Amino acid sequence: MARLGALVCCLLAAWHCRPGFGLPLAPAGAGPAVGQFWHVTDFHLDPTYHITDDHTKVCASSKGAKASDPGPFGDVMCDSPYRLIFSALDFIKNSGQKVSFMIWTGDSPPHVPVLELSTDKVINVIANLTTTIQRLFPNLQVFPALGNHDYWPQDQLPVVTSKVYNAVANLWKPWLTEEAITTLRKGGFYTQKVSNNPKLRIISLNTNLYYGPNSMTLNQTDPANQFEWLENTLNLSQQNKEKVYIIAHVPVGYLPFAKGIPAMRQCHNEKLIDIFRKYSDIIAGQFYGHTHRDSIMVLSDKKGKPVNSLFVAPAVTPVRSVLERLTNNPGVRLFQYDPRDYKLLDMLQYYLNLTDANIKGESNWKLEYNLTQAYDIEDLQPKSLYKLAKQFAIQESEQFIKYYKYFFVSYDSSVICQGKCKIFQICAIMNLDVISYTDCLRQYHMKHSL
Ligand SMILES: *[C@@H]1O[C@H](CO)[C@@H](O)[C@H](O)[C@H]1NC(C)=O
Ligand SMILES: *[C@@H]1O[C@H](CO)[C@@H](O)[C@H](O)[C@H]1NC(C)=O
Ligand SMILES: *[C@@H]1O[C@H](CO)[C@@H](O)[C@H](O)[C@H]1NC(C)=O
Ligand SMILES: *[C@@H]1O[C@H](CO)[C@@H](O)[C@H](O)[C@H]1NC(C)=O
Ligand SMILES: *[C@@H]1O[C@H](CO)[C@@H](O)[C@H](O)[C@H]1NC(C)=O
Ligand SMILES: [Zn+2]
Ligand SMILES: [Zn+2]
Repeated sequence: MARLGALVCCLLAAWHCRPGFGLPLAPAGAGPAVGQFWHVTDFHLDPTYHITDDHTKVCASSKGAKASDPGPFGDVMCDSPYRLIFSALDFIKNSGQKVSFMIWTGDSPPHVPVLELSTDKVINVIANLTTTIQRLFPNLQVFPALGNHDYWPQDQLPVVTSKVYNAVANLWKPWLTEEAITTLRKGGFYTQKVSNNPKLRIISLNTNLYYGPNSMTLNQTDPANQFEWLENTLNLSQQNKEKVYIIAHVPVGYLPFAKGIPAMRQCHNEKLIDIFRKYSDIIAGQFYGHTHRDSIMVLSDKKGKPVNSLFVAPAVTPVRSVLERLTNNPGVRLFQYDPRDYKLLDMLQYYLNLTDANIKGESNWKLEYNLTQAYDIEDLQPKSLYKLAKQFAIQESEQFIKYYKYFFVSYDSSVICQGKCKIFQICAIMNLDVISYTDCLRQYHMKHSL
């Protein structure tokens, strides 16, 4: 979850992270007509989840609050019971979809007070889910990224090797190359080409190093030299005429439900945006988690031309805090791409109606929507998404009403987002850097207090 309170934005610190600031082408004619991959994120397993009459004791992740309507597949006040996570993976396994790989963008442990976890407990949860995935999908290549909860204490992912980095490097060995394992051990990030997709490269970033609450990286312009590594990696990739999918936990850009708060520190956000713009011609897609909500973003270049499509996937955990009224249903998603140039063609969002699953005692994962069909767009290219976002901005836009329902994975079909709520959403979809974001708010006559 994005921790709103902890994310204080850094004022005009675009380039220097000052102290205290806040927080190509595949061979033609070969292979299938479309390529596919799954994206799963934010499992947040709570091993303490159990049904009991005392609703304050259903799960540690409710932190003493009463569970709302606990059932076998979970409760909105709780992180995921194992059964919910298993049902998601089991659905994927039995979906009949043929995929080349899966991406898994982190956050396996539950949201509980720091002292209720430990390094060993965090590693055990990640090991449990890794083993679960490896047993269910023995032949599938999985590309994980670390989340801010995949560490103890949470958020404090370090810039040097650590017990957790070592543990995940060992756990994820079956999926990754020697070279990838080496950088993962050192800094929690890696790059690797996709098997059977010779010109497609995954770059898994440790964006937790840029997350506001991470005090290990507070004063650093380039924590773990990841920016330098990223530029070198993209540069080489460009020379080799590859395409790249960026995967990471904490997204770039602004939180869509808040005013002027980037998901990571502003200084680091600006630097990442700068690199992504420079190499936008080889970046064919960006995939994130962390907010637990379903959202899109379109990165434009400095002249305002849309150059990259970004997708934030909703969580498997349905957890909400006591302060929130809304949350998300559990979701997993499937992407389709053109196997010749790795351009994204479509995205299918699947979900579990948690209320319904708990009533029936069985999990009936279903298609929530097909992105091109839901919005009547051609594909997932930056131009198409940019055009869509412009339609969202129109008053009473039916498209936007749908978008906002899907934002919460159809948890509540009557949700309404107007006025400021809508301005924050629109500005966050279309503007990822401080200058254009601030301009966007101004355009909607919002005094920006940054
Ligand atoms: C960051 O810089 C401040 C002031 O220069 C210093 O007090 C603090 O200890 C530094 N923090 C880290 C994590 O290096
Ligand atoms: C993962 O943990 C759950 C309990 O939370 C347990 O039922 C399951 O067997 C474990 N799976 C593995 C592979 O360790
Ligand atoms: C990539 O690296 C080469 C060699 O260091 C350099 O000449 C080139 O300008 C770099 N490309 C970009 C886009 O920065
Ligand atoms: C989820 O299931 C509940 C109970 O069956 C039902 O009332 C609700 O309409 C369903 N929601 C959706 C989005 O289908
Ligand atoms: C999404 O819907 C469109 C329009 O109905 C259809 O052409 C396309 O095949 C669908 N995509 C998938 C993957 O089902
Ligand atoms: Zn999370
Ligand atoms: Zn997170």
